[in-house]
Amino acid sequence: MFDSGFGGLTVARAVIDLLPHEDLVYLGDTARYPYGSRPLPEVLDFSLEIGRMLVDRFAVKLLVVACNTATAAALDSLRSELPIPVVGVIEPGVTAVISASRTGNFGVIATVGTVESKAYPHAVAAIDPGRSIVSCACPGLVEFVERGVISGSEVELLARRLLAPIVESGVDALLLGCTHYPYLARVIADTVGRHVVLVSSADETAFALADLLTDLELHHPDLGRSGRHRFLSSGDVRAFTRLGSRLLGPELVDAELWAPGRA
Ligand code: DGL
Repeated sequence: MFDSGFGGLTVARAVIDLLPHEDLVYLGDTARYPYGSRPLPEVLDFSLEIGRMLVDRFAVKLLVVACNTATAAALDSLRSELPIPVVGVIEPGVTAVISASRTGNFGVIATVGTVESKAYPHAVAAIDPGRSIVSCACPGLVEFVERGVISGSEVELLARRLLAPIVESGVDALLLGCTHYPYLARVIADTVGRHVVLVSSADETAFALADLLTDLELHHPDLGRSGRHRFLSSGDVRAFTRLGSRLLGPELVDAELWAPGRA
């Protein structure tokens, strides 16, 4: 599983809870975050590099792209380049927000890269061509999470400014289309109003992963112990361990350095 940084830990949490016997290797590409403001071809290159490394070095049986921006930029290429199944976060999230909305007026907030890719409108149209989704880019929110700031007046102010179009649109369900955003759920809920249902793709992605493991008969057998969890970071590993364990929980005890550009 990989993300630009700490956001994918929301997906890791859901996967560890749902599939406690599976081994997990998580890579946070903190040296190159944020992905959301980079050109998509660059995010595609990073994603392919990471996917190949996880296959070659760890012989992973399946890859979860725990990042919306990387899913938008690279899911198709990862699926055709890698010899293993690849799961993204966009389709599970879209399915969940469609069923959460009672009025049919629903939205997504995401990085600039994800919104510009139009991956969400395309995914909605693929499921139901008659429906549309209100999309809103939120540049700057990821940086707060990466600094460990998930509350306070600074982030509240930014959220109020960025989410104004969502408030005006009157959506009744809002998909957190960036895996960092569930850490800001309280600020987001206070801003858009408690009547708006917030949908995180983390749980839905874990369910999609569980279904795929069952279909492909790839489940790790229950050997009476929990799976092994390994964490890699391309940036400062001590900082990654400190904030990562606060965000994920006790499974993140230490992290190893992975240097991009080398296999
Ligand atoms: N967490 C990522 C996502 O879901 C990317 C955030 C970023 O690096 O900009 O889009």
